[in-house]
Amino acid sequence: MSGTVVRYEPRGAARALFGNRNSEVVMAGAAGTGKSLACLFRVHLAALSTPGIRCLIARKTGVSLGSTTLVSFEKKVAAAALAAGVVTWFGGSAREAPSYRYSNGSTINVGGLDKPEKVLSSEYDLIFVDEATEITITDWETLGTRLRNGILSWQQQIAACNPVHPTHWIKQRANAGQLALLTSLHRDNPAYVNADGTLTRAGTDYMAKLDALTGVRRLRLRDGIWAAAEGLVYEEFNPALHVVSQSVVKPEWTRWWTVDFGYTNPFVWQEWAEDPDGRLYLYREIYRTKRLVEDHARDMLLAVTRVVGTVPERSVLTANDIRDDITRGLREWTEPKPRAVICDHDAEDRATLERHLGMGTSPARKTVKDGLQAGQARFKTAGDGKPRIYLCRDTLVERDEELAEAKKPTCTAEEAVGYVWEPPKPGGQPKEQPVKADDHGMDAMRYMVAERDLGSRPRLRRL
Ligand SMILES: Nc1ncnc2c1ncn2[C@@H]1O[C@H](COP(=O)(O)OP(=O)(O)OP(=O)(O)O)[C@@H](O)[C@H]1O
Ligand SMILES: [Mg+2]
Repeated sequence: MSGTVVRYEPRGAARALFGNRNSEVVMAGAAGTGKSLACLFRVHLAALSTPGIRCLIARKTGVSLGSTTLVSFEKKVAAAALAAGVVTWFGGSAREAPSYRYSNGSTINVGGLDKPEKVLSSEYDLIFVDEATEITITDWETLGTRLRNGILSWQQQIAACNPVHPTHWIKQRANAGQLALLTSLHRDNPAYVNADGTLTRAGTDYMAKLDALTGVRRLRLRDGIWAAAEGLVYEEFNPALHVVSQSVVKPEWTRWWTVDFGYTNPFVWQEWAEDPDGRLYLYREIYRTKRLVEDHARDMLLAVTRVVGTVPERSVLTANDIRDDITRGLREWTEPKPRAVICDHDAEDRATLERHLGMGTSPARKTVKDGLQAGQARFKTAGDGKPRIYLCRDTLVERDEELAEAKKPTCTAEEAVGYVWEPPKPGGQPKEQPVKADDHGMDAMRYMVAERDLGSRPRLRRL
């Protein structure tokens, strides 16, 4: 069949994946070793070669799947088959998950485990979960119950991930012999490493980015080690507990905004909701570099309003235009206005932000030690079994691709798992201050907690 010719050279762990018949196999390793590509090829080749099988490609959220894994699938794995019409895209319906449909009757459903009804309503022969450290053991076991389509002679659940902390369920399950863990290495990826072990040009550039990482991110993403972060500031932070769906936030809850300014470093805007019991939920954020405060102001207003009338045609949209539209009834707020906009102290940036937002701001309470203690207290579960702070999934208005490329944190939750104390100086006290790197979302979060938990102080609110 034309359009199905596939050029793919699996090496190392990728080759091992193709020969593995274990019912659960996870490819883990440093960033860019070719894990996702290997798993996607595994699914594509199975669908091509065995008519009528049903597969699933999943991630924790549908949004993240579409912006990453499926892009690789369409560009690097199934491009020729899609172009030749051997594979067609079906966008899904009220009852059915979106899918790739093969002319031999095989299908690959795609979806996020945040909306499980559609993906779990089918039975499968082969399931691939990308970035599997994001999903819970319950998600994984539930997927396992759907592996009983029985057309393929072997039913298999495969996954790809970067290593995280060594107590993660994937590592534990591997240690207990319940899943096969394949360690994927950079030398397995022919795009980055030649057969003789030297780096390709793309590999040289890519490794330079990984070489620039520090701390636990470096150990995990460059060296591929299941490393624990030593001296975490928010030791109690547990994504399985503290990271929740945005849908828990009720429209009427009180809102707070926090801002940490930056240009070369990320500018961070966090939107928080507070429930009637005083629990805080980070539900949306801007986290990006190299953009002016006035442009952020526009993006902030865009995120919280919607068009309800006929707005004028404009070649560029400014924060001012949006405010005009609101005044003229052409746009309206889709959520409550914040009780306060709590900012980092830079006087010039604050003034610019206020001017463009048309809103006053308050200076953050910036003392570090008590702010961190208040945050730590919130991450602990209270008497009711719940913590008092949550970070929602998929908070980003837009991902900073440059940060993603550099393997830097791209959102607040990604900072929290690597936010650590500076090692004590000789003769000094431990836990005096956190390492000053990748702490921009951490600062904005601390301003939020300080605002609610550190008592009153003179309000210097400028309007
Ligand atoms: N066998 C291969 N042949 C050609 N190119 C490859 C091969 N394996 C990987 N690549 C390319 O290398 C790059 C990284 O691959 P991939 O995205 O699969 O890595 P990954 O291990 O999933 O990375 P991450 O840890 O960031 O998720 C991609 O551009 C991919 O197309
Ligand atoms: Mg990947």
